[in-house]
Amino acid sequence: MNPNTDFIPFARPSIGPEEEEAVLRVMRSGWLTTGAEALAFEKEFAGFVGSPRALAVNSATSGLHLALEALGIGPGDVVVTSPYTFTSSAAVVRHLGAEVVFCDVAPGSYNIDPDALGRLLATTKNCRAVIAVHVGGLPCDLRALRALADRYGCALVEDAAHAFPSKTADGYAGAIGDAGVYSFYATKTITTGEGGMLVTRDERLAARVEKMRMHGFDRAAWDRYTAKKASWRYSVVEAGFKYNLPDLLAAIGRVQLTKAERFLEERRAIAALYDEAFSGVRGLELPPRGEGHAWHLYSLRTLPERGGVPRDELVEALSERGVGTSVHFIPLHTMPYYAKRYGLGPEDMPNAMATFERTVSLPIWQGMGLDAARRVADSVLAIAGARGA
Ligand SMILES: Cc1ncc(COP(=O)(O)O)c(C=O)c1O
Repeated sequence: MNPNTDFIPFARPSIGPEEEEAVLRVMRSGWLTTGAEALAFEKEFAGFVGSPRALAVNSATSGLHLALEALGIGPGDVVVTSPYTFTSSAAVVRHLGAEVVFCDVAPGSYNIDPDALGRLLATTKNCRAVIAVHVGGLPCDLRALRALADRYGCALVEDAAHAFPSKTADGYAGAIGDAGVYSFYATKTITTGEGGMLVTRDERLAARVEKMRMHGFDRAAWDRYTAKKASWRYSVVEAGFKYNLPDLLAAIGRVQLTKAERFLEERRAIAALYDEAFSGVRGLELPPRGEGHAWHLYSLRTLPERGGVPRDELVEALSERGVGTSVHFIPLHTMPYYAKRYGLGPEDMPNAMATFERTVSLPIWQGMGLDAARRVADSVLAIAGARGA
């Protein structure tokens, strides 16, 4: 990429010859689906985040579904999450026939507001779990959320789709709650194209997930075709799902995992460059920060009330200058499905709406380079800085 002239995409995976070789190795091995590579990836990932169990799945969505299923959530139950998230965090609740209750984010934050959650849980019946979404890779206040979950008898599930690797004083975000789920979707901080990992310290939960991700078999499938002894017999003990991660993808994940710290350093350097460029510019507000930010997203706020350019105008003008952007997130309570089901309007989650209307996510990916980041920053300043200065 020529950082001076080429289009700078919002995100781009960083795949090198090591990943290519790993995929070729699996292709030539005669075993493409879940097997030795997936098991090795699980072990290595568990070691990285310091959790006794890691279970590879074909997406974070499947992982969240499995986590809630293993917690026994079903019709009549309530699960609380923030509207400031991707549809998966709430859709999995509906897959199980339970109901979603949204809790607003804290003012100026992208993450669930522990104070609002405390008030909500005090009046919500049948809440069985809270799903904490670490938006952009900034960990939620997990100590506060744990205390509330314990107080009201709920499980704490971490949607850590954005949060690898987010290291906090209590360990890696995603490996602190009752279960946590990471995403390896193509734009994430490490990728397998599509994929995810569920981690937990709860052996019973892990055993249930292991069974349910693979058709509800009484044992894993991968020894059925490779064992020397005749082994065609299996039992279906539950109506399970098909959520396993194939070896072809796990092999990519194993290589990406070895690069995770280096990738994080690269994203940190880009975030630092943006911080420096935008701090003190009237009309722009830096993303919230805190311990262990994985910098999956750099979500800048533009403040028209302080002379900033309206968000949509900024997105359009950046696109004209060859800079790709995205917006995280369109709050879920405004999506037709949730708005209709729960009778919600935009005004019901004012903090999420205020953030959404002002937010733009800038390119921040390993391999992008600081020259490209400088061009992004200069473009933002040329559009927004001029007005906000
Ligand atoms: C917050 C959040 N949770 C869950 C997911 C689902 O991840 P996946 O695409 O791996 O299912 C995403 C996807 O982008 C996400 O942003």
